[in-house]
Amino acid sequence: MNVMTRPEELSACAPAGTFVQTVTEVTHYTDHLFRFRMTRPSEFRFRSGEFVMIGLMIDGKPLYRAYSIASPAWDEELEFFSIKVPDGPLTSLLQNIGAGDAILMRRKPTGTLVNDALIPGKRLYMFSTGTGIAPFASLIRDPETYEKFDELILTHTCREVAELKYGQQLVETIRADDMLNELVDVGKLRHYTSVTREDYPCMGRITDLMESGKLYSDLKVPPLDPETDRGMICGSAAMLKDTKNLLEKAGLTEGANNRPAEFVIERAFAE
Ligand code: A2P
Repeated sequence: MNVMTRPEELSACAPAGTFVQTVTEVTHYTDHLFRFRMTRPSEFRFRSGEFVMIGLMIDGKPLYRAYSIASPAWDEELEFFSIKVPDGPLTSLLQNIGAGDAILMRRKPTGTLVNDALIPGKRLYMFSTGTGIAPFASLIRDPETYEKFDELILTHTCREVAELKYGQQLVETIRADDMLNELVDVGKLRHYTSVTREDYPCMGRITDLMESGKLYSDLKVPPLDPETDRGMICGSAAMLKDTKNLLEKAGLTEGANNRPAEFVIERAFAE
């Protein structure tokens, strides 16, 4: 299988309507998870929380998958957080990229996990599982999110402890970031992690922790209330469905870009 990763070669045959970008950094977290950063075209604009199609040229044909942009809208580079699926058509090859390699990106970003799709509120819950943390990695680095809400609660649930690492390192970096600290009150950000298949101080699916009330008692906040609380959900199809049901049961209504309301959902990358 031939994967074209040399920037000059790829630029010469890139399909119309795509950018050819260069990878700047790759970090592997587990056998299943890695992060990469790449150059950003100067004309590429997006809203924090949106996704874009990322691809490789394989045997002369482009293959794309949807990727949430994990970096904020102001960042001069683009960051992505990806799973590695051993027989996944794209990720089995994408996991081998290194700094200097070229990859494809379609021109148009889109998505519903954006500040514009929510009406103002006091508290923003960002519910994520697995790589579903990616759009929130963008939003928790965007000053607009801090301006719009008094409190940002990022929940991240994974099967194993090592899978939490990307989010934990990110939140530490944000707390230590002088520039962001100057612009906004980073103390508004709370990070709530749980694990389902290994020992960990907080165990269980986020849906179970909501239903039992443990999430709220641990955070010392009242249960979900449509008057004050807003939600964004990103995970597997089953996780979206179950979490959405709980939000609706609490009286929150689903919004969209053209119809802002109290919560929005989007499926995490799947191969
Ligand atoms: P569990 O280990 O109990 O399946 P996945 O990799 O399958 O997307 O799972 C990522 C995390 O999301 C796991 O901790 C998993 O828990 C959890 N999860 C899976 N399905 C649901 C669901 N329907 N509701 C809430 N959490 C879920």
